[in-house]
Amino acid sequence: MAEIGLYEAMHTLRAVRRLRSDPIPDEVLHRVLEAATWAPTGGNRQPWRVIVVKDSARKKGLGALYADRWAVFAKMYRSRLADLPPTARDKTQRMLDAGDHLGAHFGDAPAIFVFCFNPKEMAITDAKLERISVVGGASIYTAVENLLLACRAEGLGCVLTTLLCECEPQVRELLAIPEPWGTAAAIPMGYPVLRGHGPISRRPVAELAFADSWGTPFTGHSS
Ligand SMILES: Cc1cc2nc3c(=O)[nH]c(=O)nc-3n(C[C@H](O)[C@H](O)[C@H](O)COP(=O)(O)O)c2cc1C
Repeated sequence: MAEIGLYEAMHTLRAVRRLRSDPIPDEVLHRVLEAATWAPTGGNRQPWRVIVVKDSARKKGLGALYADRWAVFAKMYRSRLADLPPTARDKTQRMLDAGDHLGAHFGDAPAIFVFCFNPKEMAITDAKLERISVVGGASIYTAVENLLLACRAEGLGCVLTTLLCECEPQVRELLAIPEPWGTAAAIPMGYPVLRGHGPISRRPVAELAFADSWGTPFTGHSS
């Protein structure tokens, strides 16, 4: 396996929704899981667990649930396509086409990683504010991102999905997830059908970063 630099991995990590069904060797699965364990979490509590679903019947069950959720989401998204400027419309159309493929084949991925979290073990410092709380997720998605980056290094396609969280009770039953654990993400993983990872399109630093206070442009330049 060719080594990939960290910056290149981050810069080419994109949603890969067309996955081959050939199996992923167990040692590769172990390596990407170990990368997930290296992630920082509040108080180093690691309040997450991940279920690596390889069993066909369970994958089929997850696939059926995902297909239902995707159909609703895609319909809503498609109804907004006409309002988008042409470039954005093309990009969204391509994303929806790839999403349709994933919707039809979610359960065919060789492995689906279902990330679970324990709300009682998380350091949720924004829990009492009068807005939605996001801090708890930071003890889960750091591990998820490490896993995605490790997939990139291994030449594995994957995509972070959250649609299955809408039907958590059914996922809980299917995978025997006990209370109080909840679900945070489901990541279908497999070797890519097409090119897999590649160029991404993101907003520039100038749009996302400020200097010292909100709204003051950050003027540093890349070397
Ligand atoms: C929190 C989160 C939830 C997401 N949920 C889904 C999902 O349910 N289904 C899906 O196909 N992609 C999902 N994605 C993938 C995003 O659509 C994708 O990362 C984004 O469009 C950028 O695409 P790119 O990485 O290919 O450039 C999710 C990504 C994030 C970060």
